[in-house]
Amino acid sequence: REQPKQLTIGFSQCTGADNWRKTMQDNMHRELSFHPEIDFLIMDAKGQSSEQIKQIDELIAKKVDLLIVSPNEAKRITPIVEKAYQTGIPVIILDRRTMSDGYTAYVGAENIEVGHTAGLYANTVLKGKGNIVEISELPGSSADIDRHKGFIEIISGFPGLHLIAKLDGDWDKFSFENQLTTLLKGDKKVDFIYCQNDRRALSAFEICKKLGLEKRIKILGVDGLNGKNEGIDLVSRGILNATIIYPTGGEESIRTAINILYKQPFKRENRLQSTLIDSSNVRIMKLQNEKVIAQQQDIERRQAKIEEQRSISENQTTIIYAISLT
Ligand code: FRU
Repeated sequence: REQPKQLTIGFSQCTGADNWRKTMQDNMHRELSFHPEIDFLIMDAKGQSSEQIKQIDELIAKKVDLLIVSPNEAKRITPIVEKAYQTGIPVIILDRRTMSDGYTAYVGAENIEVGHTAGLYANTVLKGKGNIVEISELPGSSADIDRHKGFIEIISGFPGLHLIAKLDGDWDKFSFENQLTTLLKGDKKVDFIYCQNDRRALSAFEICKKLGLEKRIKILGVDGLNGKNEGIDLVSRGILNATIIYPTGGEESIRTAINILYKQPFKRENRLQSTLIDSSNVRIMKLQNEKVIAQQQDIERRQAKIEEQRSISENQTTIIYAISLT
């Protein structure tokens, strides 16, 4: 029997260490399970732009049929992505962006919009008046640049809101502990902390708690993952006041890749929706998530069954073939 042509999708992931990225990859694998003819090659740059540049170069040299890139830092990753694109490899940019439009398609939510939502939420809960501290994503990533930009665009329209500091959040959970503690103990009363992701929002909460300030200070995170100690759970337990769901785009990136590979129509800009979750809608969100998980488990069970049937029927064909030869 003729085997379908093997195609390879290379994926350059800026870092695979956190749950948001793991969810992204799980979603990619789930979608890929419908396409056994596709090889999927993930290279994890572990948060290092220099490593990501090398890995994309390797994927170009391997002549992958399509490249998906989630860029670490926007500026540093731009030239190598342009190189891949110029070589003729279709390129999908996923989640974070580069600084050029040299790509075949983009999949992700709009980070400027995340910043806008955060600014409007801060204004609502602070009733137009208060001091804010922002804790960033990886500095220099498009998520950091745009989440900040969108936030400033909104709060600058409200004269009573003041961003008194922007701290760098990195992979060490408590890297900003000393700086935040000093600010919290300082002259300016901090009313609101805008964390560009939920991991840091949880760390910020723990730092506030040490100082007995966790009830007074409002905390907003971003990501809104499902699962224990993730955004939705933290909002439902009242640890965070709100989170903004930032979809990973894992499934959509693979669907777009398939359309490109099979010369089907595809959208160049695939903007995913981000949504604010606070105490008013967290319950319904949890219920909906539980339903989605149940459906996903159902799909996985069905696929396992189909796989089992396929291997039984392949074995039977081999036996019949062997008998007919004797
Ligand atoms: C995970 C992450 C998320 C964030 C996204 C932005 O690596 O930091 O928390 O929303 O990347 O690119």
